[in-house]
Amino acid sequence: MRVIAVANQKGGVGKTTTAINLGTALAAVGKRVLVMDCDAQGNASTGLGVEPMARAKTSYDVLVGDGGMVDAIVNTKVPNLDLIPGDENLAGVETMLHNDPEKNFKLRQAFAAFVKLGRDYDTVLIDCPPSLSTVTINAMVAANAVLVPLQCEFLAMEGLSQILRTIELVRSGLNPDLEVQGVVLTMYDKRNNLSDQVATEVRTYLGSKVYQTVIPRNVRLSEAPSFGLPAILYDHKCSGSEAYIMLAQELMQRERERAAA
Ligand SMILES: Nc1ncnc2c1ncn2[C@@H]1O[C@H](COP(=O)(O)OP(=O)(O)OP(=O)(O)O)[C@@H](O)[C@H]1O
Ligand SMILES: [Mg+2]
Repeated sequence: MRVIAVANQKGGVGKTTTAINLGTALAAVGKRVLVMDCDAQGNASTGLGVEPMARAKTSYDVLVGDGGMVDAIVNTKVPNLDLIPGDENLAGVETMLHNDPEKNFKLRQAFAAFVKLGRDYDTVLIDCPPSLSTVTINAMVAANAVLVPLQCEFLAMEGLSQILRTIELVRSGLNPDLEVQGVVLTMYDKRNNLSDQVATEVRTYLGSKVYQTVIPRNVRLSEAPSFGLPAILYDHKCSGSEAYIMLAQELMQRERERAAA
């Protein structure tokens, strides 16, 4: 089970859109995928068509409750793709775990218990909240790798350095095996020079860690969640869907190379 945290402390950069559509593209080629919505906004759950009423147990229960993942898993309309929903209770995780000496290891323990039950997915994508909170740290401690969506905009580099520092910090103490899975440029606008400047700068700085595939700014990607559907089901031919399908291909290639090495 390969666990990938989709994280960036900056808000609105495409974490949730990436988790949903990358997850759907992987599921479409037969991978068994779990999306874990760890954000109190519950956007990944809504975007996958799981209404608040259908969120009996959520990531909050996994983090703060008994740690059981099995009861929290729900199916989605996407074949091969399951979800652990998120809800507003997640905003209270920080407070609830404040005095718990194991507070950063809750998710890792939950995954270990899940695997011990003989349960498995090929890929788990954790949709992180826009902060470097206890929830995000839990995701990074439980994960094998972090995928960082980066919006092609001014100050992108500053945000990037901050998340890379955090990953380094987690690696130096809590999870030495944590890798940077990759950086994916999002909301790329070819008519905007700034998009190109950011892309060039990030590639110069991080080289092959940056995915070749770039996610364009595409209104279909932002419309799809209101229909409770991943863009890839809503309109599989739009430029955004095509980009996420390519990103999935590139990710699988990268994962194969990594496994071979
Ligand atoms: N490539 C894109 N083109 C156009 N709109 C996009 C694109 N990617 C994301 N959006 C829209 O931008 C907004 C922010 O995206 P998203 O929710 O994926 O970001 P996020 O990083 O998860 O945000 P948050 O930090 O609040 O969790 C959403 O309205 C989404 O539909
Ligand atoms: Mg989000």
